[in-house]
Amino acid sequence: MREIFRGVYEEGGKLYTLNFAPGTKVYGEDVLRAGGKEYRSWMPSRSKLGSAIKKGLKEMPIMPGSKVLYLGAATGTTVSHVSDIVGGEGEVYAVEISAHSMKSLLQVCEHRGNIIPILADAGRPQEYEEVGGVDVVFEDVAHPDQAEMMVKNARFLGKGGYAMIAIKSQSIDVTKRPEEIYARVEKELEGTFEVVERISLEPYERDHLFLLLRKK
Ligand SMILES: C[S@@+](CC[C@H](N)C(=O)[O-])C[C@H]1O[C@@H](n2cnc3c(N)ncnc32)[C@H](O)[C@@H]1O
Repeated sequence: MREIFRGVYEEGGKLYTLNFAPGTKVYGEDVLRAGGKEYRSWMPSRSKLGSAIKKGLKEMPIMPGSKVLYLGAATGTTVSHVSDIVGGEGEVYAVEISAHSMKSLLQVCEHRGNIIPILADAGRPQEYEEVGGVDVVFEDVAHPDQAEMMVKNARFLGKGGYAMIAIKSQSIDVTKRPEEIYARVEKELEGTFEVVERISLEPYERDHLFLLLRKK
């Protein structure tokens, strides 16, 4: 098992994270035991952060002990891997607007004390102000206002703090070319963030761009 980032491993071309809740799975992923430890396979086709890593992400701001604000938690697929990475010293504030998805997310939280589920609209961060400062804001909301949402949630970051966003062009405007949408989103973000890395998620996700951002 080769550690490629702190808390992220690779073996035989597959990504893994060390299972923070040994004996449990989240989305039918494979489990591998090595050196008395249990690792969960991180499927890039099921996770935009996983696919960004497979596509060559150079800098990984989420690490053991990180405090992460995760917007668009859904049923917890990627959140569970972030929970594995940050471990017992870290925290994942998982914001999700759908009560239906939240029901499944709560089952994941039962085994993972480092995830704090929040049923809220990521466009209204004043509703979860008590989260306080975080190290990283991660956003995967597939929503037309995703750039504006990221800017609003930058309030939780200090200067130099990191953000990651998966931009789904089809959710913003199906009539425009993805490149036009990406340029528009980057323009909206540029007052608040500098772009550190820009990664196309093809072939794992069609028409998705992943950005690593740093708060100005
Ligand atoms: C593409 S899915 C996220 C998948 C998830 N990040 C993963 O990798 O496991 C997008 C999620 O964003 C949620 N969402 C959409 N608009 C939202 C909003 N305004 N606030 C919070 N969550 C939102 C949707 O309900 C959906 O669960």
